[in-house]
Amino acid sequence: MNALKFFASAIAKAGLLAGALLVNLQDAAAVGKWGAEYFPDIVLTTHEGQKVRFYEDLVKGKAVAINVIYTSCKDECPLETARMAEVQRLLGDRMGKDVFFYSISIDPEKDTPQVLKAYAGNFGVGPGWLFLTGKKEDVKLLTRKLGLSRLNDAASRDGHATSLMLGNDPEGQWMRNSAVDNPRFLAATMGNFFGWKDAVVPTASYAQARSMDTSRAQFTFESRCASCHTVGGGDRIGPDLGQVATRRNPAWLARYLKEPDKVRAEGDPTARLLSSRYPQVRMPNLRLGDEDVAVLMAYLDAQGRLAGNKAGGTVAAGGARLPEPGKR
Ligand code: HEC
Repeated sequence: MNALKFFASAIAKAGLLAGALLVNLQDAAAVGKWGAEYFPDIVLTTHEGQKVRFYEDLVKGKAVAINVIYTSCKDECPLETARMAEVQRLLGDRMGKDVFFYSISIDPEKDTPQVLKAYAGNFGVGPGWLFLTGKKEDVKLLTRKLGLSRLNDAASRDGHATSLMLGNDPEGQWMRNSAVDNPRFLAATMGNFFGWKDAVVPTASYAQARSMDTSRAQFTFESRCASCHTVGGGDRIGPDLGQVATRRNPAWLARYLKEPDKVRAEGDPTARLLSSRYPQVRMPNLRLGDEDVAVLMAYLDAQGRLAGNKAGGTVAAGGARLPEPGKR
């Protein structure tokens, strides 16, 4: 485990504000707000093919959430984008009105507006969220200014930090968050940071958001899987995992959770079938350790049984659940 990951998991475990740190604004305050003088007003192209100026058109006077991605990235980016899509859902009609999301490609040569448009479509991106591409040098300069350049090169295998910068331009305030945090927590953080009067989501504080994560398994599932999967709640970006513990053999499942990319590359027939059923997004290799895999498998099994029982099982007097005939 590298130092950054260790640190990240240590603070996540300690239940602290995972990765949320306020950028030092003292220096910025001395020289004026982080505004037009600070940000380069470079021209970018949106996934809709529209030319926009970074500061004038996208940031000035607005509340924004900005991250960097590239569409050929198979590991952190799909998770990051899926989480932001969940935050987008939680924010509802505030999107494009009270807050704007921008995902900037750091591989602008490959990520043409058309490529970005298809990518955005795969994740159900709606109004108020733009995917952006531009000239390579411009994007480099911009991500450096945003504190989203290859800060953690050594630490992040994808060569970019999975950070989400929140910017409140009228206040000249910026804040770094982890883009792979609990979406409810992210949405609540935005509400606080942007000063929205009414709570965005029922969980207004991090303590409350955390208390939903009652166990390690649930925490892992919520933070790494729930943006793409439910257990018994229907398909999302990926399949419903409600019955996966009965559907698949445990050895296959363990290996698939650990290295889905390798299983696919080997031409495994089940993996192939899955890819053809869910053609838009690939299950990413999340670099889970053996312990995480074991914990998740037990969780999927237990949750799946609960979901199965809720759907069709018999509840005996006293609330004890009886298995359905033919099930374990
Ligand atoms: C970015 C979205 C995404 C994330 C995050 C994600 N998955 Fe998936 N998952 C998928 C997709 C899409 C598939 C369909 C297969 C494919 O990728 O070809 C899939 C397939 C699966 C399958 C196989 C299902 C079956 O019917 O056999 C399992 C099991 C699974 N995922 C578990 C997990 C777990 C556990 C996590 C969290 C540790 C997770 N996934 C995180 C998108 C995701």
